Amino acid sequence: MSPEDDTPTVHHGPMRRWGPGNDDESMIEIRGLTKRFGAHTAVDDLSFTAAAGQVTGFLGPNGAGKSTTLRMLLGLDRIDAGTATVTGVPYTSLRRPGTVVGAQLDVGGAHPAHTARAHLAWIARANGLPLTRVDEVLERVDLTRAARARVRTFSLGMGQRLNLAAALLGDPRVVVMDEPVNGLDPAGIRWMRSFTRGLADEGRTVLLSSHLMDEIARIADHLVVIDGGRSVAQGTPERLTDGHDSLEDAFFALTSEVRGGVS
Ligand SMILES: Nc1ncnc2c1ncn2[C@@H]1O[C@H](COP(=O)(O)OP(=O)(O)OP(=O)(O)O)[C@@H](O)[C@H]1O
Ligand SMILES: [Mg+2]
Repeated sequence: MSPEDDTPTVHHGPMRRWGPGNDDESMIEIRGLTKRFGAHTAVDDLSFTAAAGQVTGFLGPNGAGKSTTLRMLLGLDRIDAGTATVTGVPYTSLRRPGTVVGAQLDVGGAHPAHTARAHLAWIARANGLPLTRVDEVLERVDLTRAARARVRTFSLGMGQRLNLAAALLGDPRVVVMDEPVNGLDPAGIRWMRSFTRGLADEGRTVLLSSHLMDEIARIADHLVVIDGGRSVAQGTPERLTDGHDSLEDAFFALTSEVRGGVS
């Protein structure tokens, strides 16, 4: 049995602004980004920005190039052309990256026999972060009551929240998440909406990827939609959905035009 099966609650941190001058900056900036795997171009001359104080949804179907883009942004994949910067510099140039960017990628990484607290303490220690942060981030993702439970007993939603806790350990002003709502139930998706809103309201820059267009259209302030590694639309959810029943309908209308009516 899971140590905590009930619906998670959102605990917002204290309201906080990131110093004057930062608020309007494009904290994440992708310019002409390109990645090739052999003859296949996975990310093709992609450009977009993610602003502070906003949730930016990075959308596209399976294989669109979302994870590859995020991996290049985080210095995990080599860039073939273009640039990807965070707070104006490449991720790999950041002196203490964990205190600037918190990342939750599709991979888990927690040892199943470790407790949630031990897992986070290990990451904190490895990154020179104060251990006092561990209980703060556990509270933030509503895992306080599960702090001493072993990770193998966690539900998918709890594992997802543990990854988010790890991403927040360094109190980063930029938070990047790859498919954070994947597999979550409606309560988990609601929680994620409130959680990401809280991060943005504190002035943080939030970038999250998903293939679930209509879910993310409800979470994000700004959308970047890609297909085949290329940007197909960018703007507010309202603007992109305008004239269609849903963002997904808008996406299919847009991409079938591009493909000459073939879907
Ligand atoms: N290491 C790799 N070697 C070869 N091809 C790759 C590699 N990583 C990704 N690709 C290819 O690049 C394209 C983009 O993949 P990517 O994982 O970025 O898509 P995605 O948008 O994250 O999809 P999903 O929604 O399934 O997670 C796909 O065609 C994929 O097969
Ligand atoms: Mg992916």
